[in-house]
Amino acid sequence: MLYHQKPRLGPEQLRSYRWFGPDDLRSFGHRSRNKQSGFSNDEFQGKPVIGILNTWNDLNTCHGHFRDRAEDIKRGVWQAGGFPVELPVMSLSETFMKPTAMYYRNFLSMETEETLRCYPVDAAVLMGGCDKTTPALIMGAISADIPCLFMPGGPMIRASWRGEPQASGTDVWRHWAERGAGRLSCADWREFEDQIAPSTGHCMTMGTASTMTSVAEVLGFTLPGAASIPAVHAAHSRMAAQCGKQAVELAWHDYKPSDLISRESFENAITADMAIGGSTNAIVHLIAMAGRAGIELSLEDFDAISQKTPVLANIKPSGQYVMADFYDAGGLRGLLTRVRQLLHLHCPTVSGTTLGENIADAKIFDEDVIRPFDRPLSAKGGTAVLRGNLAPNGCVIKPSAADPKFLKHKGPAIVFENYQDMKQRLSDPELEVTGDHVLVLKGAGPLAAGMPESGMLPIPKKLLEAGVRDMVRLSDARMSGTSYGTCVLHISPESSAGGPLAFVEDGDIIELDVDQRRIHLDVSEEELSRRREKWVQPAGNFSRGYGKLYSEETTQADEGCDFRFLHHDGSHWKEPDID
Ligand code: FES
Repeated sequence: MLYHQKPRLGPEQLRSYRWFGPDDLRSFGHRSRNKQSGFSNDEFQGKPVIGILNTWNDLNTCHGHFRDRAEDIKRGVWQAGGFPVELPVMSLSETFMKPTAMYYRNFLSMETEETLRCYPVDAAVLMGGCDKTTPALIMGAISADIPCLFMPGGPMIRASWRGEPQASGTDVWRHWAERGAGRLSCADWREFEDQIAPSTGHCMTMGTASTMTSVAEVLGFTLPGAASIPAVHAAHSRMAAQCGKQAVELAWHDYKPSDLISRESFENAITADMAIGGSTNAIVHLIAMAGRAGIELSLEDFDAISQKTPVLANIKPSGQYVMADFYDAGGLRGLLTRVRQLLHLHCPTVSGTTLGENIADAKIFDEDVIRPFDRPLSAKGGTAVLRGNLAPNGCVIKPSAADPKFLKHKGPAIVFENYQDMKQRLSDPELEVTGDHVLVLKGAGPLAAGMPESGMLPIPKKLLEAGVRDMVRLSDARMSGTSYGTCVLHISPESSAGGPLAFVEDGDIIELDVDQRRIHLDVSEEELSRRREKWVQPAGNFSRGYGKLYSEETTQADEGCDFRFLHHDGSHWKEPDID
């Protein structure tokens, strides 16, 4: 249903009327406190109150422009006859947070849900961009089910170093390998450090940030074309103001996330994820987002859609270009025209038009950046789901970012019990390793460590010096959406939960066959049972506060790592009967 197909509310039907309308003592308090801020009754009473959930902070440098954009949004809200209120919420800075921003995704989702619910908010603009902010805000909005639209933060501009284009993450890992191989000096590295993040905005690769903002657009949560606009482009300010205006419309029609999303809109999101060669992190986030709406997505849904969707966005890490090139080439709207036949075009969006209408007049200006359907970057989508005795509940790989020669591989394992073990031994010149070995990292799943992005295990120094740049790596971790290589990720159940990964030992033979969707540990069932009996579960890291809640409630990667009690179970939040 489109928003204008719902009846328009009267002022007394707005949610905020309960705060500002009645002639009682509580409402007196609310009105008088708005006046404390310098507003008169006619500026807020009877008008939609638009919450602006701002994930700005000084350490989330991807969101450095968000204070300006919040003002742009307010401008739009005022112009449309609403009353804007800025409500700061936790910012999830991918680069600065430890153990990992993923650990706090559910925290921000809960804060979003409760902030929307407890305040007089008729509709909200959610400001996100840096990786986990997008799923967290949308998960919270789905749970609160209050009218919302999403303002994507936009990618950084192009970076350049010594005349060559550079991209967040992807080129950092590439140059770090060169440094490990002794081909870049400390001074070179410092010079590169000056150039790699040239403006505010999120990573300019098709990493998790660009993937998730694109997914948000395809789900219908953004204005058409919003996800591709670079952060510092003037069009970004205009888009932000338009978000403010549109939020007022959504408030008048009480157009909720439950009116917007469906199983079909999630299938559209997966199709887009595959066509852009999106981050493997999108799998975990989309399953969690759908779970908030009571829509079940399985790993097999991703694999099935991946099989029929080619990768068309020639963007790093799978391709050559960056997000600014994608924008210039026609952006996400252009790309979606290329997979139009795979989309449910009737799905609604917050703009009041369908997805099909939003892409109807989209054009492509560079066919090397956005490839034709019959000249893809890769014929099948960017993600494959594997199963086998090593991952009974599944694991994932991004074949488009791997060296094709490793997609069918058999080799002996070198096992690291945890991140510290890996860090110490990988640089050991005595480590007996060849390019055919399979590097295995345990202790990096959701329970053990909050599921950090450790899944692109570094190539051992001596192999780097010998020119090796990829090898098969396996873990229960995630990897950055900007990463690349033959990395099998999200192994479920994780090792700390007693999954078979916990029982792998040095020298065990591991078989990977991506075409067959198979991951196999070549150890007999009897031997695995023997190892299982001896296994002692590692002590948890999180024993108090939020960590305790996290370790007691998080699900595994194949279930989205959401908290069990936040999954939609058909029940509705019931507020105590208090004015
Ligand atoms: Fe914020 Fe990459 S660090 S998006």
